[in-house]
Amino acid sequence: MIEKIQQHRQDFDDKVSGCSSLEQLKQLRIDFLGKKGCVSGIMKDLRTVSPEEKPLVGKQINELKEHIEQSLEGKTSALQKNGHGVSGDAKGFDPSLPGKKELTGSIHPISQILEEISTIFFSLGFQVEEGPEIETDYYNFEALNIPRDHPARDMQDTFYIEDDVVLRTHTSPVQIHVMENQQPPLRIIAPGKVYRCDSDVSHTPMFHQIEGLMVDENISFSHLKGVLNIFLHQIFGEKTQVRFRPSFFPFTCPSAEVDIECVMCSGKGCRVCSQTGWLEIMGAGMVDPAVFESVNYDSEKWTGFAFGMGIERIAMLKYGINDIRLFFENDLRFLKQF
Ligand code: PHE
Repeated sequence: MIEKIQQHRQDFDDKVSGCSSLEQLKQLRIDFLGKKGCVSGIMKDLRTVSPEEKPLVGKQINELKEHIEQSLEGKTSALQKNGHGVSGDAKGFDPSLPGKKELTGSIHPISQILEEISTIFFSLGFQVEEGPEIETDYYNFEALNIPRDHPARDMQDTFYIEDDVVLRTHTSPVQIHVMENQQPPLRIIAPGKVYRCDSDVSHTPMFHQIEGLMVDENISFSHLKGVLNIFLHQIFGEKTQVRFRPSFFPFTCPSAEVDIECVMCSGKGCRVCSQTGWLEIMGAGMVDPAVFESVNYDSEKWTGFAFGMGIERIAMLKYGINDIRLFFENDLRFLKQF
């Protein structure tokens, strides 16, 4: 009998030292001290012991019970101190292991390119302005010298909320908001979302533009060329050829389409540039006096230039992306590359 008690003690000691969670200790308590546990088992066996031996055996059993209780208590507080099983279910939790790394996100390529573009214009003294994405017909078209029946409206079909309220088709209405609220000299850029009824590999119904506007005394086309040359050389590289091609916008006169030498074929002619060697990058021009009139600026005193470009297009050319829809599909395998 004494031997049996020794064996149980040994068995318990082995098991308790192998316990690494409160859960396991709980089970051990049940196995040894529970109703059907080892200790009750030997208590029952006590009946078979001779009356002379009983006091000694009884004492030994009590000692075993005490030993078990103390050990369980000691081990429980040791585990709790180490943070084991704090939540009750932290089986196998080891606080000495390094923590799990949280997955970090990355900045969207459109935001990155926007930041890059803005930094260049900040260095030239431009400030950021923002305007609403829902515009009245007046700000989106009329004040920009695009009357109701003007064919230029065809190029910018959009989403009408009401007859006179649209999702803006370009960032140019910000020019009007800024000039209504501030007096020259002005040097602003206005980035933001714009909307058009268009959808294919190079068009999405929502995309981003950045507008630029500079108004002061004696601003000429050469200032426009100077600013845009600096900008395009910084974005696409010093050696990039830039050309200004005559064009038309109702709110600028003269107007130009600005092209850069094709970044894919360096001007030799390829599929991306439709064999022309050039890529259209933005619209620009001198602010039309009619626009100044709509904001009550004296067009005899002030002159200025404006430009507007698509941010996705800049990002696509800079990073060699061939489908604009990739920007908005939220596929992490694509987004993580930038
Ligand atoms: N708003 C014009 C467009 O979206 C671009 C532009 C802006 C042209 C400013 C000239 C001056 O096509």
